[in-house]
Amino acid sequence: MKLIIVKDQNEGGQKGYEVFKDAKDANAKVFGLATGSTPLTTYAAITASDLDFTDATSVNLDEYVGLGEKDSQSYRYFMNENLFSKKPFKTSYLPNGLEDDAEKETKRYDKIIEENPIDLQILGIGKNGHIGFNEPGTAGDSLTHKVHLTESTIKSNARFFENEADVPNYAYSMGIGSIMKSKKILLEAFGESKAEAIKGMIEGPVTEDVPASFLQNHGDVTVIVDEAAASLL
Ligand code: GLP
Repeated sequence: MKLIIVKDQNEGGQKGYEVFKDAKDANAKVFGLATGSTPLTTYAAITASDLDFTDATSVNLDEYVGLGEKDSQSYRYFMNENLFSKKPFKTSYLPNGLEDDAEKETKRYDKIIEENPIDLQILGIGKNGHIGFNEPGTAGDSLTHKVHLTESTIKSNARFFENEADVPNYAYSMGIGSIMKSKKILLEAFGESKAEAIKGMIEGPVTEDVPASFLQNHGDVTVIVDEAAASLL
């Protein structure tokens, strides 16, 4: 893993943008995207740049089950607000949170990933080491699946909702196996609350207990962290 330690999230966003620019210069056509507060400075730097994605495809990691694009807490809404409305892609895929038939939706999404092999995948990390919504205990070869969110993830993500009770209990997520197929991976983490997960990811054993640790088995991972997230390394 290539580790880049930055001063703060703003500098991290700039560095993250450079990884996107390099990939684009190398002719990347499919970008795997993530939600959460972590990639926001990277998306802001991309938005402020003259990079053009109108010939590119994006494939997002995950979506809450039960939320549609008009719900302001859905990941589709988040992506529209923070990136797509300013930097449109030719096609942007996310799991459909309004599809009740999990079997049908996960198969549909796996087909999309198969047909659009990801050149660069950006990831955040959960405090418990999850990537996408792949919670501890998820197999390293997992494909798209319906996830029952852990108490810890529901609590962490409650800050985006009015009440904790409003956080959906389920999500559709790309699997760890799908993420591992991306040609290049960029993982960002900022703040002390991510320090333990970053330590486990980089220095711990490869284990289902820390889903991000599977990235040790990938040949091209860049990790951008601030000093606080790197503080236990
Ligand atoms: C959610 C998302 C993850 C994200 C994580 C961390 O659970 N599914 O993709 O990495 O939150 O969020 P944040 O970046 O806000 O810390």
